[in-house]
Amino acid sequence: MSQRVYIFDTTLRDGEQSPGCSMTVPEKLKMAAKLVDLGVDIMEAGFPIASIGDFEAVEAVSKEFSEMQVAALARCTKLDIDRAAEALKHTKRPRIHTFMATSDIHLQFKLKKSREQVLEEVVKSVQLARTYCDDVEFSAEDAARTDPDYLEQVSKAAVAAGARTINLPDTVGYSIPSEYSALIGRICKALGDTAIVSVHCHDDLGLAVANSLAAIEAGARQIECTINGIGERAGNCSLEEIVMILKTRGDKLPYYTNINTEHLFAASQTLSSVITFGPQPNKAIVGENAFAHEAGIHQDGYLKNKSTYEIIDPKTVGVPQGKLVLGKHSGRHALKDRCSDLGFELSKEELDFVYHGFCELADRVKGVRNDAIANICRDAKKALGVSA
Ligand code: KIV
Ligand code: ZN
Repeated sequence: MSQRVYIFDTTLRDGEQSPGCSMTVPEKLKMAAKLVDLGVDIMEAGFPIASIGDFEAVEAVSKEFSEMQVAALARCTKLDIDRAAEALKHTKRPRIHTFMATSDIHLQFKLKKSREQVLEEVVKSVQLARTYCDDVEFSAEDAARTDPDYLEQVSKAAVAAGARTINLPDTVGYSIPSEYSALIGRICKALGDTAIVSVHCHDDLGLAVANSLAAIEAGARQIECTINGIGERAGNCSLEEIVMILKTRGDKLPYYTNINTEHLFAASQTLSSVITFGPQPNKAIVGENAFAHEAGIHQDGYLKNKSTYEIIDPKTVGVPQGKLVLGKHSGRHALKDRCSDLGFELSKEELDFVYHGFCELADRVKGVRNDAIANICRDAKKALGVSA
């Protein structure tokens, strides 16, 4: 029997806190609407204590999508937890996500606290968060580099204090799948059915998705991830990749998510339109080349039967079919449609600007790539003073 894996999206929090990705409140709302279309289980809308803007964004998302399970991040302090609870007051299903580092490296150099102190503060903070809502998640920051005995002790104490979800991040993207799987398996066994074990993997060694998958196989049932894999440094586990792995390889992986995968491409494009960059062309699932077949042998096989070179029907992830190559003979209409596919709805004035930039580029290059068109759209929005 297939088992459910919950998708906790942190595009608006971990994703947003990385360079080039900050979003205004209206931009977060626009992106949140796409996450609702996707059917993510939990949407982390921000870190309310971090700034007034972050507080307002969490509040606005909670108000507009009050049926959604919305999470807000808080360190293990009263100030942070009170602020998170305040920002979440409009949602019917609030989750306070409180965190504290547990590795000796962080304790010694960053927190300058003993293991006992950390344990005590975790317990107090989870208890405080539970006075505001039933749904409390505790994250042991840098769990992957934490002494497993201590991690088990903290995890059990957080659950006893009232946490329902225990998240064990690979904060610095250092772990490898076999090692991470052993750690997650051990904590899952220790907690039994008292809590959901969650993972949150960074991609510093390009292993965020592989580590998340290993964790699922070891018992984790919540994956923290982001659209296009954005996030601190090299980013987080990519939502579209982990979801499509489970969907495509159900023959080997008896797990499912409730994601409406046909909205993946639109979510990716919308994100690219509100931040300063899109996914690289060869990015799995949502990259511009993900479903392109260029080599003659590949084209020949593909035309005879798509399954020769395509493991996912592009429709499954919402990639528009029969895309035209845009070049110097393309007209305004085709360009406007492409901009819309890329997440940019343009006014007449903006379209004029984009068309001008596009024609200039099309004179110089053979087909104009989507990322170049998206850049011109961003320039237009900037030049004409409108946020995307
Ligand atoms: O990477 C990390 O450890 C985090 C936690 C706050 C969940 O982002
Ligand atoms: Zn993180």
